[in-house]
Amino acid sequence: KRPVGAPDKDLARPVTKVGVIGAGLMATQFALLFVRRLQVPVVITDVSAERVEKGVASIHSEIGKLEDKGRIDTDTANRLRSLVTGTTDKADFAACDFVIEAVFEETSVKQDVFREIEQFVAEDAILATNTSSLSVEEIGSVLAHPERLVGFHFFNPVAVMPLVEVVRTPQASDEAVSTAYVIARKLRKNAIGSADAPGFIVNRLLAKVMGEAARAIDEGTALTEVEQAFVPLGLPMGPFELIDLVGWKVAAHVQDTMSSHFPDRFYSSPNLHALAEIDEPLERDRKKRITGWSKKAKKAITG
Ligand code: 3HC
Repeated sequence: KRPVGAPDKDLARPVTKVGVIGAGLMATQFALLFVRRLQVPVVITDVSAERVEKGVASIHSEIGKLEDKGRIDTDTANRLRSLVTGTTDKADFAACDFVIEAVFEETSVKQDVFREIEQFVAEDAILATNTSSLSVEEIGSVLAHPERLVGFHFFNPVAVMPLVEVVRTPQASDEAVSTAYVIARKLRKNAIGSADAPGFIVNRLLAKVMGEAARAIDEGTALTEVEQAFVPLGLPMGPFELIDLVGWKVAAHVQDTMSSHFPDRFYSSPNLHALAEIDEPLERDRKKRITGWSKKAKKAITG
């Protein structure tokens, strides 16, 4: 097996423009990080103009918050805003040296995205997927140049979490992996190398914790009791507050992926899936009632 660690940083490709595919929660958070830390143009796309507009507006709003907090001055805020462009035309990705996707977590959807984008970018552009648990090699199998694809897995909240997993497939070139590491350093993230194994490293550990927490509910323990059981461990959040942060559907999907690969080792909870189905904003209150979960409950639990 090839080592998954960082190759020589001199092999990294310079990045002068970044492309982001997907304008959802994760994509907009890391698009902002790219523009702020690399100070290069970032173009962002999604399946509809409406989603693109919403994504760009959320990046602008986060830039506004940084300005309000005094983290950046007004000139910098305006410059960062001007570096972000939304588009529905993939031809606008032609000059991107690094393109990263965070679209729906399904291999075929991601394959379609990369198959299409490869028609527009230069032959030596580096491609990355933010997949949280799917096989990067399988995603890249549709590419004419699979050696240019790496996994580049961020954690929520992107601005705060110090880690990025760089996933190396057997085909990945040293140039692609090295570029990923150099970008991570510029983003001020600690990059760890991971083999292309289901759940990589972090989600494999998290899926165990979340799976056992969900199993306790399935067995009849109240959610708030399970949450309370985590307090002595000294983690920043209990398992259900963390699931609420990353998204119930995302969490249920990670559980499914892990339990389908390792049925003897991972647990896919019926209650977690039932909660993940309640996804509409108007339904969130119902979710809170079902789970008994709320900020107030947490305060009561932790005292
Ligand atoms: N989005 C953006 N920024 C956020 C945020 C969010 N959701 N939540 C907090 N922040 C920022 C705050 O604005 C604040 O920034 P500032 O210092 O510039 O003002 C900073 O984080 C600290 O905020 P708080 O004072 O509210 O911080 P807390 O001490 O309550 O910490 C936390 C909040 C950082 C979210 C902490 O609870 C934590 O680390 N939780 C664990 C998160 C975690 O484990 N994430 C990994 C999830 S797994 C994943 O993403 C993988 C995926 O594939 C499933």
